[in-house]
Amino acid sequence: MEQERHTEIVAGNRDVIVINRRSFFGTLVAIGSAGMGAFLAIPVLRYVLYPLYAKAAGTQWSDVGDMSEFTADKAPVRKTITFAQRDGWREVVSAQSVYVTRNAAGQLEVLSSICPHLGCSVSWQKAQNDFLCPCHGSVFEPDGKYVSGPAPRGMDPLPIRTKNGKLQVRFEYFRSNVPNQEKLS
Ligand code: FES
Repeated sequence: MEQERHTEIVAGNRDVIVINRRSFFGTLVAIGSAGMGAFLAIPVLRYVLYPLYAKAAGTQWSDVGDMSEFTADKAPVRKTITFAQRDGWREVVSAQSVYVTRNAAGQLEVLSSICPHLGCSVSWQKAQNDFLCPCHGSVFEPDGKYVSGPAPRGMDPLPIRTKNGKLQVRFEYFRSNVPNQEKLS
């Protein structure tokens, strides 16, 4: 055992610390193993934690219908669209209703049917020529402008474009019950 002594440190007259060769190499192997384990764990940790730092990807463009369906003299038309959203590892396919209408200048608009008050589905009333939310009675003009009721703003317009003769929309969600449109990711 005396031969294995590598170092002796004498502190004062009493304390003696002895590090023998076997424990020195044992410590080196332990440190090396821990470092290698941590190195190999990095990709696994990144994969496991990915949903925590990844932002939900926005929706893609969805077909609403042929442009020929939406003539200038028509009342708002209700359409159901489908779209995919990526949230962490999952891809969620959703369906939502929208209204195709025209603004005061005669330009096409697509409005979300989600009431900006607390999220009920708004209905078109042909006889009254307005939109009504059945939950708390908010009323909106044919172009989505606020008329009355507890909703803090008008119906939410959505981004639109035309492609190959089709009207397309990118569905978005907005914060409920706030006066200005705030997009949710
Ligand atoms: S949810 Fe539409 S008025 Fe309340």
